[in-house]
Amino acid sequence: MSKRTFTMIKPDATAKGNTGAILSMINAAGFRIVAMKMLHLSAEKAGEFYGVHRERPFFGELVEFMSQGPITAAILEKDNAVEDFRKLIGATNPAQAAEGTIRKLYAASIGENAVHGSDSNENALIEGDFFFSKLEQF
Ligand code: CMP
Repeated sequence: MSKRTFTMIKPDATAKGNTGAILSMINAAGFRIVAMKMLHLSAEKAGEFYGVHRERPFFGELVEFMSQGPITAAILEKDNAVEDFRKLIGATNPAQAAEGTIRKLYAASIGENAVHGSDSNENALIEGDFFFSKLEQF
């Protein structure tokens, strides 16, 4: 069972002032924040983070959106973290997200979908290490 996942509160949620409410939902769901920072990704860094999607038609749009304003990146700890966090945030497309999920409450579209959550234990480690040195992971 994995204990950690990685999340970003995306530029749309930051701009709408939803960072605090989303962090509060994350804490209420039993996740412990073990690393966190606010930063503004360059287009180059956003493209590097989402490199697996480079060939997708939405890649350019994704990079532009993710570099348009500040995000909050965090590593979260809880038993079964990856799966439980994906349940908490809901489907990638908010139109398909379950009631009460973060994306149902705060996302506008599949592109501007408020939060990111790692899709596997392996990616959770890679993504956490992309933003945080080992000294910054508690
Ligand atoms: P995320 O979970 O951060 O991982 C990849 C992101 O690509 C995803 O959230 C969406 O924001 C974005 N994405 C996926 N599919 C589409 C799409 N069809 N159009 C625009 N953006 C998309």
